[in-house]
Amino acid sequence: MTQILPADKAGVTQAATLLRAGAVVAFGTETVYGLGADATNAEAVAAIFHAKQRPRLNPLICHYGSARQAFEQVVADARALRAAAAFWPGPLTLVLPRRPQCSVALLTGAGLDTLAVRVPRHPVALALLQAVDRPIAAPSANRSGQVSPTSARHVMDGLAGRIAAVLDSGPCEVGIESTVLDLSGTTPVLLRPGGITPEALEACLGPIGPAAVSGAAPRSPGLMLSHYAPRLPVRLNADAVADDEAVLAFGPPLPGGCCRFQLSASGDSIEAAARLFEGLRRLDADGARLGASRIAVMSIPEAGLGLAINDRLQRAAAPRTG
Ligand code: TXA
Ligand code: MG
Repeated sequence: MTQILPADKAGVTQAATLLRAGAVVAFGTETVYGLGADATNAEAVAAIFHAKQRPRLNPLICHYGSARQAFEQVVADARALRAAAAFWPGPLTLVLPRRPQCSVALLTGAGLDTLAVRVPRHPVALALLQAVDRPIAAPSANRSGQVSPTSARHVMDGLAGRIAAVLDSGPCEVGIESTVLDLSGTTPVLLRPGGITPEALEACLGPIGPAAVSGAAPRSPGLMLSHYAPRLPVRLNADAVADDEAVLAFGPPLPGGCCRFQLSASGDSIEAAARLFEGLRRLDADGARLGASRIAVMSIPEAGLGLAINDRLQRAAAPRTG
C-alpha cells in the first residue's frame, strides 16, 4: 500500500520519518516529482532503482535544503558559488567533485568522483529536506521508460504499491527536469537542458562548453559520462577462480582468489546493488596491494536489480579505450 500524504506539517513530518528509516518516498518539486531516498543509505538508494525497474544504475541527483549543506559535500569553486547564488533554490543541478568526507553513498553517484547536487525551490520539498536533514537522492518518480510525473496522481499511476508514500504537493510548476550543468572541468558543460535556459546560464557564467548551447540534441547520459571503471581488468561470469584474482562474490563464494568482496551472501540483488561500487573500489585497492591480475566476477542472475548490476559490470569489463 502506498500512502498519499497531504502537504501539511503532519504529512511532511511523516514523509521525513519514512525517509530517515530508509523508505522510498515520492515528493513534488518545482520541476517534476522525485522518487526520494536517503542518499547516504546505499540500500535505500538501491530500492529506488528497484521501484523504477531501471535497467541501469545511473548517477542520481542529490537534493539539499540549502546551498550550504550541498557545499559541505562537494567542492564549489567561484563559478559554482555564482550559479548557486543566481539560481538556487531552483531548477539547476550542478555536477561538482565530491569532497573526501562526502557522506553520500557511492551508489548514489554511480561510483563517480563527481556528484550532481541541487536545491529545489518548491516550499514543500524544501520543508521536507530540512526535516530529513540528510541529502535525498531523487530521480523522476516514474517507472523506467515512462514520462516524468508532474502530479501525485501520475506517480501513483506508475508506482502505486511499489513505494512507501507520495507527498502530494500539487502540480509541478516547471514541468520539465532541472538543467544539469557540469562544473567539474575547466569549461562548464550543459549535460541536460532543463528549467534554466542556456542563455540565463551564460549571462551568469560566461561561455558554456560547445556541446551545450549548440547541442539541440543532448548526448545520451550513458555515453557522455566517464563511468567509474576499476583499474584492474574485469572478467565476468567466473565459474572458477585463479589464485591471482580478486573475487567479486554473489551468493556462496567460489574457492580461491587472493581477496574477496561479498556483494550479497544470500543472493539478494538489492543488497548487491547497494554494495557494487564499494566492492569494485575495495577489490581495486586490495587487489593492487596483493598483486592481483584482475577482478573475477561471479555470475549474477538477471532478476530484480541483476539486470542493472550486469549493465554496470559489462561496462566495467568492456575493452579499455585510451
Ligand atoms: O528536475 C530534476 O532534476 C528531477 C527532480 C526530481 O529533481 N530529478 C531528475 O533526476 O531528473 P534524474 O536522476 O532523473 O536525472 C539525473 C541526471 C541524469 O541525466 C544523470 O545522467 C545526470 O543527472 N547526472 C547525475 N549525476 C551525474 C554526474 N556525477 N555526472 C554527470 N551527470 C550526472
Ligand atoms: Mg527521468
